Amino acid sequence: MRGVILAGGKGTRMGELTRVTNKHLLPVGAWPMVYHPLKKLTGVGLQEILLVSGTEHMGDFVELLGSGKDHGCRLTYRVQDEAGGIAQALGLAEHFCMGSRSLVLLGDNIFRDPLIGLLEKANTRPDWAWIGLKEVHDPGRYGVAELDGDKVLGIEEKPEKPKSPMAVVGIYIYPPDVFGLIKTLKPSRRGELEITDVNNHYIQQGRMGCFNLDGYWTDAGTLDSLDYANELVRKEPPRF
Ligand code: DAU
Repeated sequence: MRGVILAGGKGTRMGELTRVTNKHLLPVGAWPMVYHPLKKLTGVGLQEILLVSGTEHMGDFVELLGSGKDHGCRLTYRVQDEAGGIAQALGLAEHFCMGSRSLVLLGDNIFRDPLIGLLEKANTRPDWAWIGLKEVHDPGRYGVAELDGDKVLGIEEKPEKPKSPMAVVGIYIYPPDVFGLIKTLKPSRRGELEITDVNNHYIQQGRMGCFNLDGYWTDAGTLDSLDYANELVRKEPPRF
């Protein structure tokens, strides 16, 4: 299995904080944000990790993380020319993954649980896609899963009337056929290739599994949620 960190996007919701830097380089606890997904991946023994980001700050990521040797991994970098969506960014990992499964983390997701539980569950059905879920009070900000017990019936991206309080978090495991699927996607209304469309394909094929996060989870993509992520990490350090 290979690790993928998606750290592109426009970061337009961070105001002046991202005028000269990338959202994923802002501090969360004692580290730049991107250390969090990186340590989650190395924490479960992944050594081959790809980081995707835009042209503007790729140099800063390379300066910060280098070859990955200080983190016990080998890093590969790929440029996403424009922020065309999470699924587009993941599509850039095709050659890097070379027929392996991928464990994909959104670079602005901060959570407490280590990834080992998810990985063990996902290994029971390696030809499925797997997503993380977390109950939240404001599901309309996220992809929202409709569930029947443990079964995911469908996912809606930022729905006005969420069918459940269960947000799809930015932790995904995909089998190698995800890259063929991404090539068939059309841009959404917001002009992006959506990861929710990828996930709904797997649901339709009956090949989607999910796991619930026990510990805290938040994105850190707005000023408020960045504050909140810092508060959470200070109170209870994440487990890797
Ligand atoms: O945080 C979880 C949510 O992330 C999910 O519940 C949603 O289903 C999913 O669509 C996504 O929602 P957002 O609209 O909040 O995603 P955002 O645009 O903030 O991007 C999330 C991360 O993905 C961010 O760390 C940067 C990376 N990204 C994003 C885009 C649009 C890229 O690497 N390239 C991109 O083009």
